[in-house]
Amino acid sequence: MFWKETIRLRTMPVVTKIIISLFLVLTGFGYLLGFTNIYMTYNMVDEKPGLSIKDISLTYYGARDKTTLEKAIDGSMRQYFTDKNEQKIVKEWILDGASENAWDSEIEPIIDASCSTCHSEATALGGVVTAEYSDIENYLGKNTGKSWSRIVGVSHTHVLAITPLVFLLVLLLSFTSFPVLLKNIVSIFAFSAVFMDVGFWFLAKLSPFFSIFVLMGGMSLGLSFGLLVLLPLYDLWIKKV
Ligand code: HEC
Repeated sequence: MFWKETIRLRTMPVVTKIIISLFLVLTGFGYLLGFTNIYMTYNMVDEKPGLSIKDISLTYYGARDKTTLEKAIDGSMRQYFTDKNEQKIVKEWILDGASENAWDSEIEPIIDASCSTCHSEATALGGVVTAEYSDIENYLGKNTGKSWSRIVGVSHTHVLAITPLVFLLVLLLSFTSFPVLLKNIVSIFAFSAVFMDVGFWFLAKLSPFFSIFVLMGGMSLGLSFGLLVLLPLYDLWIKKV
């Protein structure tokens, strides 16, 4: 019968099974690294440890009651001040209207000492320079979160990298001995998850209401990777016919 002729992962030579397993394990490991990276980058945005809806809405929609500079020194840039008091001085300066006079007399030395290793004209990490008042002025506008160009930039690499990977994993899944219905559901769910994961970034930029969907999109993608890696591994080594 037709299905007897179908290639099955589990009937392949042991070396091939090991090679496929290595691919699956490395992919799973890569996903965990990606997740750790996301966690480390975003968990402190709201000044509290742990990834939350608030972190997501501040990242995409922004803190519209704050300037970008204030958000930065309250969040991930706070650690770079040589002491707490200096952070407070700069914060008060921002709240007082961030005048150029006070910058020259009081603020510039603090920023030079704490921030110039990464934000001088020469280093400009993240494209950010904090050397002169005219540079700082760029960050004194209302904080509206990640820019559209940044979101488009990140989504295009994300989609183009993840889609072929998911396709390969779906292909491997199709050569397992699981029921066709299960394979179809997992495969379609995984592709939808890629779509949701990225799609909700755009919506979350429009309204904080969608932040929770960003979290759900991310979790769906995580679940998909889990299933796409573990199901074939299970089929290769553990599942009885
Ligand atoms: C060890 C390197 C490093 C130091 C020191 C540092 N920064 Fe940054 N900063 C970065 C990087 C990398 C980014 C871009 C990544 C990001 O968007 O989080 C960034 C981004 C920023 C941004 C832009 C944030 C946004 O939302 O667009 C501001 C403003 C900023 N830093 C201010 C400061 C200030 C003020 C200090 C000093 C108290 C400081 N940084 C110290 C590395 C550093």
